[in-house]
Amino acid sequence: MIRKYVYGNPYDTGAVVKTLPAETGTLPYFEVEQSDSGLCFSRSLSKDEVLFGLGEAVRGMNKRGYVYESWNSDVFDHTESQSSLYASLNLLLFCNGEQCFGLYLDDPGRVRWDLGYTVTDRACITSENGDLALYLCEGDSLRQITRELRALLGQSYLPPKWAFGYIQSRWGYASEKDIRAVAQNHRSRHIPLDGICMDIDYMQDYRDFTWNREAFPDLKGFADQLKQDHLHLVPIIDAGIKLDEKEPLYQEGLQRDLFCKKADGSVFVGAVWPGRACFPDFLNTRAREWFGSHYNTLLDEGIDGFWNDMNEPAIFYSDETLARGFEIADELRGENIGLDGSFKLKDAFGRMANHPDDYRRFYHDMDGRRVRHDRVHNLYGAMMTRSAAEAFRKRDANKRVLLFSRSAFAGAHRYGGMWQGDNFSWWSHIALCMHMLPALNMSGFLFTGCDLGGFGCNTTEDLLERFLQLGVFTPLMRNHSALGTREQEIYRFSTWESMRDTLTVRYALLPYLYSEYMKAVRDNDMLFRPLAMDYPGDERALHTEDQLMWGSECMIAPVTVQNAVGRYVYLPEDMLMIRFRSAKDHDLEPMTRGDHYISLRLNEFALFIKKGCVIPFGQGAENSEDAFSAPLTLLGWAEKGASYRLYTDDGTGYAPLPTEHDRILRKE
Ligand code: GLC
Repeated sequence: MIRKYVYGNPYDTGAVVKTLPAETGTLPYFEVEQSDSGLCFSRSLSKDEVLFGLGEAVRGMNKRGYVYESWNSDVFDHTESQSSLYASLNLLLFCNGEQCFGLYLDDPGRVRWDLGYTVTDRACITSENGDLALYLCEGDSLRQITRELRALLGQSYLPPKWAFGYIQSRWGYASEKDIRAVAQNHRSRHIPLDGICMDIDYMQDYRDFTWNREAFPDLKGFADQLKQDHLHLVPIIDAGIKLDEKEPLYQEGLQRDLFCKKADGSVFVGAVWPGRACFPDFLNTRAREWFGSHYNTLLDEGIDGFWNDMNEPAIFYSDETLARGFEIADELRGENIGLDGSFKLKDAFGRMANHPDDYRRFYHDMDGRRVRHDRVHNLYGAMMTRSAAEAFRKRDANKRVLLFSRSAFAGAHRYGGMWQGDNFSWWSHIALCMHMLPALNMSGFLFTGCDLGGFGCNTTEDLLERFLQLGVFTPLMRNHSALGTREQEIYRFSTWESMRDTLTVRYALLPYLYSEYMKAVRDNDMLFRPLAMDYPGDERALHTEDQLMWGSECMIAPVTVQNAVGRYVYLPEDMLMIRFRSAKDHDLEPMTRGDHYISLRLNEFALFIKKGCVIPFGQGAENSEDAFSAPLTLLGWAEKGASYRLYTDDGTGYAPLPTEHDRILRKE
């Protein structure tokens, strides 16, 4: 059961889809106290209490023992010391064995989650705004609590079916020629592929909704041709609009008064890729409709997928921070710069980006309510996603368009997916991706994944292989890397054949993945779950951080350590292990409940199916369309026979089909 508690004058975030009456009694479980830093909800934590949630955040699945901040941030290094990443998902579950409950804080401002950091056995959640709605959910199990909270937040986004295929991306593909080469290198080696991303290089001077006409002389013809080959182009769209008198988008936004403005009424200017830029006021309905309508320019060219970026919003500098930087440099010119001076100089430029002063410098017109940006900061990216998604629906209420965003807030999961931002080519980032998957699912973000191979710094063959082995299971399966790093398309490596074989498993699992994804949408369930959700009362499961439940029937246990040739796995019940090398080459091993060491050479990875269950398995294909139409067999360890409910549809429409459309597949 969910109860709502209201404090101050909450902002209309659009995150929640149900209207609940506000409680008048006191909030159970917490002490509520106003302090200088905000409104604080605190409680003692019992010795073994486990905390799951917060969506996108560093460290482990159990969030206990650190301090996190809901503050959407453009951060490049996802190290353990980061308190915030790009999205703020204020959902947290408390579980101490017998007693579980969850909460969702509908507060788009800065929230500090001190979860046993200052005092080991105390959680203190502080809302800087103090204007919020707090939803408290009690229930019999973690799984039921998350289902209820998900129902509160509304149905998750439905991507087109091809978006579950493998997508290749890299910052640096600048022309039709570059993209053709990527397509050709995959197709000629029979490496499965469904999409290719276009990063900022396709644009004309980094202007949204434009493309370089020399590099892409006939975008529509090109997109259509690729589609004949089952390949979709996925261009990036950034939040900031180039400030240029000759730029039609800038002129339109200015004339129609749709940009974020400063206190004196002038337009706020901050720099991003195109240099000085203006920021559409996505928190305003008119501005959302306007920006969204511009996606038509690319949709008209045959584009059917987008990724929205830099929408925290990222600000490299503003006119004000830049002027201040130069002032400091001038003050220090000719000085003998020592300790203080050198830090001052470094910080003046090094800390210029995403400056807190800038986030306090501009305002939104939330359909009549004027609000300073920092109060509602975490909504900005979510509302950009909404802007695009509403425009897509308006254009064609049946056609699903691929959309994923970097920045997010609860509610945006109804409009699009999200990727996990600029990770690194680090082994620890395979584990980090894994840890975030259930936390993101909990808040409704089912369509997610990380940059496989790692975005920043140079990948290695074995790292990419292990990343892909996790990526086989994530709905968004995209290889992406930064400009200047080692090229990491599969075909660049000597072991490309084994990576291709790994992808064949993904394509054979597509019917199951899609079915489980759609059922999770329909039932407000999670695709990835901590083991604790399926095995309440199992102490080991409660504390397992390196394995996940996947779909209703399966468990995964990826290898995240370099040079490992196997790993320990905990089986909370009897399961069938499938050791995959490819869709066609795998061995099956029934295993009993308990601990096992399993050997997994670099080209091998494991999937575990609960005893008594079966899952559909297709055939490795080179594109998703073929994969979805391939004949299915059933994999599983079911001595007495078993059946699987297969969800299928034609991939159109914005709601999953009801259960009576499921096909029952039986294994005797
Ligand atoms: C941001 C994105 C990254 C993209 C880059 C250039 O860093 O997170 O994915 O490649 O911008 O557009």
